[in-house]
Amino acid sequence: MSSRDLLIRGRGITKVFGYGAAKTTAVDTVDFDFHKGEIISIVGESGSGKTTLAKIIMGLLKESGGSIDYKGQPRVLRRHADRKKYWKDIQAIFQDPFSSFNLFQRVEKLLLSCIRLQGLKLTKDEQFNKMKEACSFVNLKFEELYNKYPFELSGGQMQRLMIARIFMLHPKVLIADEPTSMVDACSRSTILDMLLKLRDENEMTIIFITHDVGLAYYVSDTIYIMEKGQIVERGPAEDIILNPQHAYTRQLISDVPKIHTAWDLG
Ligand SMILES: Nc1ncnc2c1ncn2[C@@H]1O[C@H](COP(=O)(O)OP(=O)(O)OP(=O)(O)O)[C@@H](O)[C@H]1O
Ligand SMILES: [Mg+2]
Repeated sequence: MSSRDLLIRGRGITKVFGYGAAKTTAVDTVDFDFHKGEIISIVGESGSGKTTLAKIIMGLLKESGGSIDYKGQPRVLRRHADRKKYWKDIQAIFQDPFSSFNLFQRVEKLLLSCIRLQGLKLTKDEQFNKMKEACSFVNLKFEELYNKYPFELSGGQMQRLMIARIFMLHPKVLIADEPTSMVDACSRSTILDMLLKLRDENEMTIIFITHDVGLAYYVSDTIYIMEKGQIVERGPAEDIILNPQHAYTRQLISDVPKIHTAWDLG
């Protein structure tokens, strides 16, 4: 990928929580380069710092050290207007969909807020069609859901609704932190396919966070392996999975029987 397409660049990103004996370095001098239309997986076991890194990239958590460039310029999030502008471009789906929604807002209002966020002036009919289109993209029926509250939906429906929001907002960057954690295997591949379709249609950059190296191989162009806050290995997905250089990567791969088998056969 050419440097022309470089969208987000991080250097030396570090996050330290707490002080003294309770100090944890959750993210430790991490470098990254994410390009337009690229799907990146960040893979590591529980507690390796994936969500902390995601929150820093999102601008929800302030880094203790390092710098981030966005579109070739240092990222500035000091003023409310700066953050508003940045969050128009970058959206996230987190592990727990319940934490992402206002629980007292019905589905219709929730989707209407996406239209408002984009500053679109639409007629009632146009609004209805847009919400309907977004729901059918994720195989949900707007007519059945519009009047419901988030807590009246299943975990899988909530996760799909989050993707419907992304469909409406079409951000430049999507951070998906374990977006399939609450669904069965069948819905999981549907959700992944929806994300891939969004990338193909909108040239969206997707940062996919998971502890499942098999999933990462399936969806991503590039894999970053994270261990104890550090990126220990990064490269094209094929190289990382078929020719891992780091012991920790080999261990993650050996925990996935499916890949192992495909490997032996190949
Ligand atoms: N707000 C916080 N205050 C103190 N420590 C934190 C905070 N958030 C995360 N940590 C610590 O930072 C480390 C990394 O946590 P993080 O949530 O980023 O891991 P993760 O890779 O996303 O794990 P998982 O796969 O379980 O979601 C952990 O040791 C965690 O306890
Ligand atoms: Mg996490």
